Amino acid sequence: MSFLKGKNVLLGVSGSIAAYKSILLLRLLKKEECNVKVILTKSALDFVTPLTFSTLSENQTYVNFVEENEDEKTWNNHVELAEWANYFIIAPTTSSTLSKMVTGNADNLLVATYMSYKSKVFFAPAMDLEMYKDDSNQKNIEILKDRGHYFIEPPSGYLASGMHGKGRLEEPELIIEFFKNTVKKELVFFEKKILITAGPTYEMIDPVRFIGNFSSGKMGFSLAKKASEMGATVFLISGPSNESVKGFNVEIKKVISADEMYDECVEIFPNVDICIMSAAVSDYKPENINKEKIKKENLSNLNLNLTPNKDIISHLAKMKNKNQKIIGFALETNNELENAKSKLVRKKLDAIVMNSLNHKGAGFDFDTNQVTFITETKSTEFSLKSKDEISEEILNEILNL
Ligand code: CTP
Repeated sequence: MSFLKGKNVLLGVSGSIAAYKSILLLRLLKKEECNVKVILTKSALDFVTPLTFSTLSENQTYVNFVEENEDEKTWNNHVELAEWANYFIIAPTTSSTLSKMVTGNADNLLVATYMSYKSKVFFAPAMDLEMYKDDSNQKNIEILKDRGHYFIEPPSGYLASGMHGKGRLEEPELIIEFFKNTVKKELVFFEKKILITAGPTYEMIDPVRFIGNFSSGKMGFSLAKKASEMGATVFLISGPSNESVKGFNVEIKKVISADEMYDECVEIFPNVDICIMSAAVSDYKPENINKEKIKKENLSNLNLNLTPNKDIISHLAKMKNKNQKIIGFALETNNELENAKSKLVRKKLDAIVMNSLNHKGAGFDFDTNQVTFITETKSTEFSLKSKDEISEEILNEILNL
């Protein structure tokens, strides 16, 4: 299976005779099991047709901001396209597209999408000899490189004009090789396996009732998605939660009780490099589960006998080998730092992520969180951020362990 499987790739094609090579590029991306959407500039239409790209990509091909069908106009949303993409390759990049990218001239869908895209793009110029050498193009290439975009240098060779020299579009196989190598280098968790737990656990009282907590699973799911984006193979064990992980390299196992979570963790843990326990595991469960629904009797008090659940993370810490890392979570309401530090030591963890319920915007069901990453030697406090941003910070801290 390709590590690019399921990744969303935008392929931008501008108007050059080399546009025929982008059809081969699309084929190679599909071979890597990527989902591909193609944006053509209007001048690309002089060289290739949208039908070719739509057929091969199995997706709509985008050209204009507004498509006029028989009696309906539809808007191609460049922001949505940019947000959809994990990667963006512009090949061929013509002189005109290059200069529009540099100056922010978003008068076509391709450049507007490029400007809405938050990450770095791969750009592969294609031009004739003198045009490629021209000062403005050379300066524009340097500017894009300085902005961190990935430059795919044109090789020397036969040019469509009949001349010989530098300027032709790099061969699709080499563009793909460069793309894959670059992506791999940036995937800091490439070939790492991570076990993540998420959500609450529910402990049954009788067939209709349970003991649970308010955990939504958002933090654990966000960690799983980010870790997958950063190249890891993720095993996510989740208690009851409405979150989902479609489209990511995440194998999910749904459980209900702490005992079920324990069984799954113990089975998977020996095969992973890192374990992040963000689940809010119930500390207690009813000693006996009533087979029938408990009836209220004369409104008198009801006593439930509770027995402790196994401490999953402590058990995993005992199983761990010297190359594995275990990271816990601690949700505290008072003496936060002190309590979290003592949990780190007591449970023999490599690090603990502390959340305080006293922070505004942090805790259950929020899309934001504020955490402190604590190891034996230092505490790093992060400001209030989205759970996705916090996940990235936490995973970067884990890399440094
Ligand atoms: N944890 C676990 N198994 C349990 C309880 C907790 O693996 N039975 C893990 C949690 O997933 C978390 C860490 O232990 O990573 C700390 O959980 P927390 O509930 O804060 O700590 P407790 O040990 O339960 O202590 P207390 O409830 O007294 O604060």
